[in-house]
This record gives sequence, structure tokens and C-alpha cells, in this order.
Amino acid sequence: MRVKFKPGAIDYLKSLAFHTHVDDFALSKIKDINKPLVLEIGVGKGDYLLEMASNYPEHFFIGIELNASVLSVAAQKLADANLNNVLILTGDVKYLLPKLSALSLNYIILNHSDPWPKKRHEKRRLTYSTLVNEYYKLLEEGGTLIFKTDNDDFADYSYITLSSVPFKELIFIKDYKGDYDFDAKTEYERKFLNKGVKIKMIIGKK
Ligand SMILES: C[S@@+](CC[C@H](N)C(=O)[O-])C[C@H]1O[C@@H](n2cnc3c(N)ncnc32)[C@H](O)[C@@H]1O
Repeated sequence: MRVKFKPGAIDYLKSLAFHTHVDDFALSKIKDINKPLVLEIGVGKGDYLLEMASNYPEHFFIGIELNASVLSVAAQKLADANLNNVLILTGDVKYLLPKLSALSLNYIILNHSDPWPKKRHEKRRLTYSTLVNEYYKLLEEGGTLIFKTDNDDFADYSYITLSSVPFKELIFIKDYKGDYDFDAKTEYERKFLNKGVKIKMIIGKK
């Protein structure tokens, strides 16, 4: 994600009631929320989160993003929309997942995660087998994991790792037309579509 380092990003994020750093996150922050929970991993500039939280006020969205400068762009959009069903976190999802273990998530969303094509970087892929196991445990019965990518090899790899957990249904769409009901386009997705690249989507239902 090409966003220049923004010197004020961390202070801006700290000023927001709907943001926390993953290190400071505790379940008490969301204990009173009585809505189905959606976790988006790798929020980027926030288009998905903004559209989905606006369209699905009966869901509560937790979005995590490693890069504070990028997240501050998303945060500005969310602040302008004055949404009350979003929490954003700065940090690495691997530190968040253990903190969520007492929860059941309705959806886990992976939109255009970095493919990390080199074998030596496999563990950084957000569909690496260890993470996939954790996602599966966190999903409620009937919950759904959605993965989208432009990258054929990453899609094939992710289908294999996602096949290693016992989803009741695992669907691999090789030319996704944007017609899944619980979905919105992301910044990356628009760029890929403009270039004529096919979007691959994997949907796992527990
Ligand atoms: C290629 S971008 C896609 C952004 C957005 N989802 C989209 O589709 O436009 C991937 C994003 O995931 C974030 N990311 C990568 N690894 C992450 C991790 N372990 N935890 C949280 N965010 C991560 C990156 O910082 C980057 O902003």
C-alpha cells in the first residue's frame, strides 16, 4: 500500500475514541456490544470498512491494519461518516487473535492481502496454516471467512491452507463478479478491476 509516512498519523489515531493499538486492546473495550462481529484484516485505506459499516449497522466491525499511516487515511473517512459500529486497531493481527479467543466472530475478511510470493516469506501470508487454524476457531458455527485476491498463485495456495480446516462449505470463485451479498469493493480491488484482472474469491462457511 503506497502511502507516505505521515508524521501525525499516530497522534491522530490516538485521539479517536474508535481506535486503539493492538497492545492496548482488551475485550472489555467491546464487552457491551451485542451485535454479530466482523473482523477485517488489513484494512488499508478503509473503503471496505466504510461501505460495509454504513450498509450493515446491525453488525459491529473490527478492522486491523499494520501501517498507522495507511490506517489514518481510513480513520479520517470513518470519522467523517460518524459511524458507531466500528473499532479500528493499529498492529499485527497475530497479536490480536489470541486476545479475541473468548469471542465468536460472524465474519473474518481478508481483502487483497499481501501475497508474499517467496517461499521463505510464507509465514507472513495471512492465509498461512497457523493463522487459518486460529481463524477457524474464532468463527462461530455458521460463520464465514471471505478471502479475495487478484493473485492466482496466492489464491491457489490459500485454497489449500483453507482446505485443511473442516469448513462445511468452501467455495473458490475464479472470476468474482462482485455479486456476493455481504461484500464491498476495496481500493486495491478497483485498481485490479480497472486493469482487467480477474478477482479470485474464496468463501469458507463453518
Ligand atoms: C495489499 S494491502 C490491501 C489493503 C485493502 N484491504 C485493499 O484491498 O485495498 C494489504 C494491507 O494489509 C496490511 N497487513 C499486512 N499484514 C498485516 C498483518 N499481519 N496485520 C494487519 N495488517 C496487515 C498491510 O499493511 C496493507 O495495508
